[in-house]
Amino acid sequence: MSDAAAAVEPFYAVELNRLAHQRERRGLPVIHMEVGQPSGGAPVAALAAAHEKLATTPQGYWESSALCERIAGLYRERHGLTIDPERIVLTMGASGALLLALAVLFSAGARVALARPGYPAHRNVLRAFGLLPVEIDCDAATRYQPTAAMVAALVPSPAGMILTSPANPTGTMLDAGELAALAAVARARGIRLIADETYHGITFGAPAHTLLEYEADAIVLNSFSKYWCMTGWRLGWAVVPAALAETFRRYSANMFLVPPTLAQHVALAALEEREELDRRVGDYAVNRQLLLDALPQLGITGFAPADGAFYLYADIAHLTSDSLVFCRELLDATGVALNTGRDFDSLQGQRFLRISFAVSTDETRRALELLAGWLRRRRPR
Ligand SMILES: Cc1ncc(COP(=O)(O)O)c(C=O)c1O
Repeated sequence: MSDAAAAVEPFYAVELNRLAHQRERRGLPVIHMEVGQPSGGAPVAALAAAHEKLATTPQGYWESSALCERIAGLYRERHGLTIDPERIVLTMGASGALLLALAVLFSAGARVALARPGYPAHRNVLRAFGLLPVEIDCDAATRYQPTAAMVAALVPSPAGMILTSPANPTGTMLDAGELAALAAVARARGIRLIADETYHGITFGAPAHTLLEYEADAIVLNSFSKYWCMTGWRLGWAVVPAALAETFRRYSANMFLVPPTLAQHVALAALEEREELDRRVGDYAVNRQLLLDALPQLGITGFAPADGAFYLYADIAHLTSDSLVFCRELLDATGVALNTGRDFDSLQGQRFLRISFAVSTDETRRALELLAGWLRRRRPR
């Protein structure tokens, strides 16, 4: 076994999800707020396109240039940017885009900075590639996001940095000024920027800015998993500088041949279903507000309201010394499945819970009732 494999960290969301499914197999109800996925599937018209394409095309190796053009159009519509479709590389989700970016950009041993708390696969995949994650401690003072000053203070300067906005697990975003400042400090210090924009499209106030507005040479990762509700279809993309596009494609062909063919047909159809998808974001907004109103009444106040994505990351250190134990006990007693912060922060994560509110509003209400009742019954430890 490689050293990286020997050191790979557990994924607690998966463990809690397994416990939740065991409970369901015993015939007991569960409200799934532990995993980061929309509870609704792909838009209705996109599923119809899947049926039609299954019946009429052989599903061979294929890369849709029409999809790359349509994705380029998305940057025009959302951000007023003109992106050459040749710069768009279709991938197996944002996860596949991350693998390509790390393979293309960095040599073994390179240091790559990222926020703590953060999406665990970022640091774990860095390690798997023989790269060195440099975690920047971010707390409520900066809404769990890194600042330009924090990056300027890194000694030695890292070769790269991953920014995530909206972020997982906090849902907080980097605004235009913060992105511009981070881009400027990275340019000055020769730091390659990767922006994970997987949650773009799911925002509750101002829309998200892409890092490409401030750094034309940034690598941007995105996905059909979240806004387009296509988690299991495994499709995403990377926007890459023109000079690197050919190298990205070479790696992509060697690692994956092509991304899933059927998913590309579905994505083309899903891109036209904005009304249905925005309605779902409207539902997340209602759920978010329910949580923002109810959690303080339960004595849970240590969180930054999410600007986007569908998560709240809450400090519950006054309720438990280990949020994994808290989550297991809550699930066992009530059927409400939440995730421990330990997935996102190996130092402080035991203090935190991540609540995914990409469920129905009825489920959100019910989960809050169950949580309130359980907290009343239980003594703090
Ligand atoms: C920040 C972030 N990036 C990437 C991913 C992976 O997404 P995909 O399904 O597109 O591989 C996730 C999934 O939860 C995520 O939260």
